Amino acid sequence: MRNAQKHHLDLELKAARRQTDELFQIVRPDSLYERPIPERHRIIFYLGHMEAFDWNLMARRALDEASFHPTFDHLFAFGIDPPAGQLPQDAASEWPGVEEIERYNRRTRDAIDESLAKVPEEMVHAAIEHRLMHAETLAYILHQLPYDRKLPRSTADDPPRASIPRTTFLEIPEGMARLGNSPDNGFGWDNEYQPLAENVPAFSIGRHKVTNAEYLEFVRQGGSPPLFWIERAGAWFYRGMFAEMPLPMDCPVYATKCQAEDYARWRGASLPSEAQFHRAADSAVPSRNTDFRYWDPIPVTADDTTEDIPAQMIGNGWEWTSSLFAPFPGFESRAYYPNYSEPFFDGSHYVLKGGSPRTAARLLRPSFRNWFRPSYPYIYATFRLVHS
Ligand code: AVJ
Repeated sequence: MRNAQKHHLDLELKAARRQTDELFQIVRPDSLYERPIPERHRIIFYLGHMEAFDWNLMARRALDEASFHPTFDHLFAFGIDPPAGQLPQDAASEWPGVEEIERYNRRTRDAIDESLAKVPEEMVHAAIEHRLMHAETLAYILHQLPYDRKLPRSTADDPPRASIPRTTFLEIPEGMARLGNSPDNGFGWDNEYQPLAENVPAFSIGRHKVTNAEYLEFVRQGGSPPLFWIERAGAWFYRGMFAEMPLPMDCPVYATKCQAEDYARWRGASLPSEAQFHRAADSAVPSRNTDFRYWDPIPVTADDTTEDIPAQMIGNGWEWTSSLFAPFPGFESRAYYPNYSEPFFDGSHYVLKGGSPRTAARLLRPSFRNWFRPSYPYIYATFRLVHS
C-alpha cells in the first residue's frame, strides 16, 4: 500500500472497530449468550466473529501468519443464513467464555495492526466493509433483544416529526440504468461487477417510502402486521431500538418483501426492479438518517429538498426490489472471499438498495447491493411503489 492510503485505511479500520465495540456495550453482560433472532447465531458469536474474520483474511490468508488458536479461527469464521425450518440448535454452554474470546480479540488485533502495511489494499477494504456491515447486523439483532436486557445509549437528539404526506408519483422517462461498479472506481464487492447498462421503459415511482399510516390501512383490511409492530388494546405501537412508542404514522414501514409485495398488489402497484431503482435514484439526495445517525426511522418527508426527485432513495431504510439476487454478466468471485456472494445466488434472496439508519456511509455507493430472504422480517427494510 502507498503510505497516505495506508494511514487512511488504518484509521478507517480503527473507526470501524469503535463502531462495533460500542454495540457490545448495549448488551447487559449477563445477556451476551442470548439469541435474539432464531435464524442467527447467539450474540457471543459476533464478539469473536469480526476479529476472526479479519485475522483469517488479513493475517492467515494474505500473509500466511501462523495460527495461535485454530479452534477459534474456525468457530468464529462464518455466520449462518438457514432456510425456514432449519434453525440452529446449539446451546449457550457450547460457546467459549467472554474472557477467552477477548484475549483472542486483543491478540489478533495487535498482530493485524503490526503487519497491516503488508496486507493488499483490497483485503483491508474488504475487512473494513465486512465489519461495518456487521455494525448493522448487530444493531438489528440487538433490536430484538428485550429492553430489560439492554443498557440504553444516550441519543443526543430525538428524530424529527413531520406531517403525514400524501403519496404522489413521479414519472421516470425511458432510459438507461447503470448498474454495477467500474473496475477503476475503488473497492467494490464481487457482485458489483461487471458494470451493466440496461434500458428501462418509462414508469412512475412513489416520491416517498410507504409510511406506517399507509400500511396500517392494509393491516386493517387483513394485511399482515410487520414484526416491528405490536398491538395493545386495539392500538398499534412501534417497537423501537430502546423504547416502544405509538406507531409513528409519518415514518416508513419496516416490512418483509412478502409483505411489501402483498401491499403493492393491494394498491394495484408493484415493487421497483433493481434497474428501476437505479433509474429513480440517479439524482438522489441521501437522507440524513444514515451512517449511524439515529437508531430508528425518521419521517418520510423529513429530508425533502425538491419535489421532482424521489426522497430518501438512500438512507432511512433499505428498499426491497423485485429482483432476485443474481450475478451480473462477467461475475467472478474473489479468491480472498469466494463465498461472499455466490452461495446466495440461489433463487431465494432478493436485492435491497439504498441504506438504513445503521448503514455506514462507505456502503452507500450506488453499486452496493444488499440481499436477504423475502420473509426475513428483522432487517431495516422499507419499500416504495411503482406503476409500470
Ligand atoms: C450483504 C448484509 C447480506 O449480513 O449476511 C456479513 C454481509 N457477509 N458477513 C450478511 C455479510 C458475511 C451479508 N449481507
